[in-house]
Amino acid sequence: MRIGVFDSGVGGLTVLRALAERIPGAEYLYLGDTARLPYGAKSRETVTRYATSSARFLVEQGAEFLVIACNTASALALDAIRAAVPVPVLGVVETGANAADASSQTRDVLVIATAATVESHAYAAACAERGLRAMEKACPLLVPLVEEGWIEHPVTAEVLHIYLSELTAQARIEALEPDTLVLGCTHYPLLRAQIERVAHESLQVIDSAQVTAQQVEQMLDGSLSRSEGAGPRFFATDSVMKFRALGSRFLGRGIDGVELVDLGG
Ligand code: DGL
Repeated sequence: MRIGVFDSGVGGLTVLRALAERIPGAEYLYLGDTARLPYGAKSRETVTRYATSSARFLVEQGAEFLVIACNTASALALDAIRAAVPVPVLGVVETGANAADASSQTRDVLVIATAATVESHAYAAACAERGLRAMEKACPLLVPLVEEGWIEHPVTAEVLHIYLSELTAQARIEALEPDTLVLGCTHYPLLRAQIERVAHESLQVIDSAQVTAQQVEQMLDGSLSRSEGAGPRFFATDSVMKFRALGSRFLGRGIDGVELVDLGG
């Protein structure tokens, strides 16, 4: 089984890592559309165009199942991606909402994500389908801070503090009693320790990487080999050097052999 994992950049490598640990028998193709990142500040039309061309590329390379690890592409373009490729497609908004559903006792959750994801209200809709109330907040400064490598940096801690206190104050005004905070962006798992330090201790912080891997395993049950697959193939649409340097932080190990691809503008 060849699984294609797509993200606008390197953040989706946290999902690839969880997949490879849980399903070592699959072969992986990972595409980071680094030339066209960030998706989170772009319109639905542009994100859809970029994400569908990226999905088609992975299928052309032999992917038999696609995981859209990018929250923004999952929120804005999942139906278009499904219509564009002849293979099953799983998005992380769905799996993130499943994780929130399993975690929340109060049935009120908070979601932080890119501006485009929040404007789409895809998380609120997916949560509502599961009987959860969700309050979403765009945190546009977090992706550039992570890209800059400012993980354990006082500026990042201050920015997180401002975003999270605004979000919890708003939740209080609307009489929500949240017990779960969903990290609705590929980059935020790298800030998890910081977020847990800043967020109220009653909040359970969840990211969709683990639950996505679990759901893929269930969906592919029966078609998975028990023996270990070949190592992943990596594709990037911009500097392979930058992909390797930044990507190893998300993947938790070194990356070599990144192939540069041109998917147009
Ligand atoms: N991958 C995007 C997401 O998960 C974050 C980076 C971007 O804006 O492209 O929403």
